[in-house]
Amino acid sequence: MPPRLPATSPPRRADAAARVAIRGDLLDFSADPAWGDIDSPAVRFRPDHWLLAEAGRVVAVQPEPPGDDWQRHDHAGCLVLPGFVDTHVHSPQIDVIASYGSELLDWLTTHTFPAEARHADAAHAEAAAAHFLDALLAHGTTSALVFPTVHAGSVDAIFAAAEARGMRVIAGKVLMDRNAPADLVDDVATAERDMEALIARWHGRARLAYAVTVRFAPTSSRGQLTLAGRLCRADPSLYMQTHLAENRAEVRWVHELFPEARSYLDVYAAVGLLHARSVFAHGIWLDDADRAAIADAGAQIAHSPSSNLFLGSGLFGWRAAEAAGIRVSLASDVGGGTSLSMLRNMADAYKIQALAGERLTAWKALHAATRGAATALGLGAEIGSLDVGAAADVCVWDAAVGAVATRRAAVARTLHERVFAWMTLADERNLVKAFVAGRAHYDRDGA
Ligand code: GUN
Ligand code: ZN
Repeated sequence: MPPRLPATSPPRRADAAARVAIRGDLLDFSADPAWGDIDSPAVRFRPDHWLLAEAGRVVAVQPEPPGDDWQRHDHAGCLVLPGFVDTHVHSPQIDVIASYGSELLDWLTTHTFPAEARHADAAHAEAAAAHFLDALLAHGTTSALVFPTVHAGSVDAIFAAAEARGMRVIAGKVLMDRNAPADLVDDVATAERDMEALIARWHGRARLAYAVTVRFAPTSSRGQLTLAGRLCRADPSLYMQTHLAENRAEVRWVHELFPEARSYLDVYAAVGLLHARSVFAHGIWLDDADRAAIADAGAQIAHSPSSNLFLGSGLFGWRAAEAAGIRVSLASDVGGGTSLSMLRNMADAYKIQALAGERLTAWKALHAATRGAATALGLGAEIGSLDVGAAADVCVWDAAVGAVATRRAAVARTLHERVFAWMTLADERNLVKAFVAGRAHYDRDGA
């Protein structure tokens, strides 16, 4: 069963933005589209409709315009989708996106750790959090699972910035107590104290939730992993996020550090970190027993295509994961990933599957970044769809930007052809507006 969270709701306001109507070609999903099915019945396409949102929630979808007492956003001809859900992204790594020259372990030491160390400064963390969340919104992502840094102040900063924007954000203090620079490690007692205070402050407040955030097995002692598992068991509404089996050298290192474990996954499972609220980034180098265990637990894999290509980590076996019963969501994994744009990541996901001889439909890719991710997080009633009752986290997209995309859209003969070309060619420049709980937080044209 998907996890249930304490009830949270979008902000309710009685101002002019309380009744909002958005016109366009509405696209979302009623279920998980089958692999390879370009005529999937799970696709819900409602051309030239109005989406009505009141007090932050979708209240109707209809072909006719609403009355004059609705604030109208007329985007006829544009695509209107639920805001994307990025299930794995590192807020401090915007500063190292597109760094040249290394695989995972060297990349962490050379580029990533120095950028994260700068977040010891609370003012830096605060400014970075605001910049990061505004950037997410400007890429059409309205919900995210975020890794800030080891510093409690960086977690406060990301949650406070998310609350100010009304966003659905799940985050937690990054746990590291070994094999990392001295200015980025803490100890078990400090980690416990920090986490308890952060959970009390933020978990279940506004649209926020706490994730016990183990960076990855090599940077946590057994004591710290045990603490993380204990917290998850004590409060089943907490999420857990970490990295798993991303890179071959990393997997070898985990075997050296934990020789008693059957597999990398087993290191987490043994301490209680494999459960229905676990989100494992990558999961490339798994075997059948690992896949079965993840599926049995109801955990999910956050597939991070642009990161896997950029860092040369490997080609994720999406079909094998799904055949085993694992929920697969999509993630940018910036700064290992090269774009916050979930569309760019979908285009990369397609290419990864093509290398494996598979073909990823636009439906499957879009679902994994909307309703699929939401359902896997136990948030299917709140985000990821245009259902009546869902939070009005909604994005308006230009169907084409530039001469080539415009021509390609014009000659498309089917809906899948058109949307697939859009998914492959579009990026954040196509985003016209992003609404969070019915309020416009990004407006490209400044209207
Ligand atoms: N493994 C441990 N830390 C990281 C990180 O920051 N990014 C990626 N891609 N993998 C990791
Ligand atoms: Zn990552």
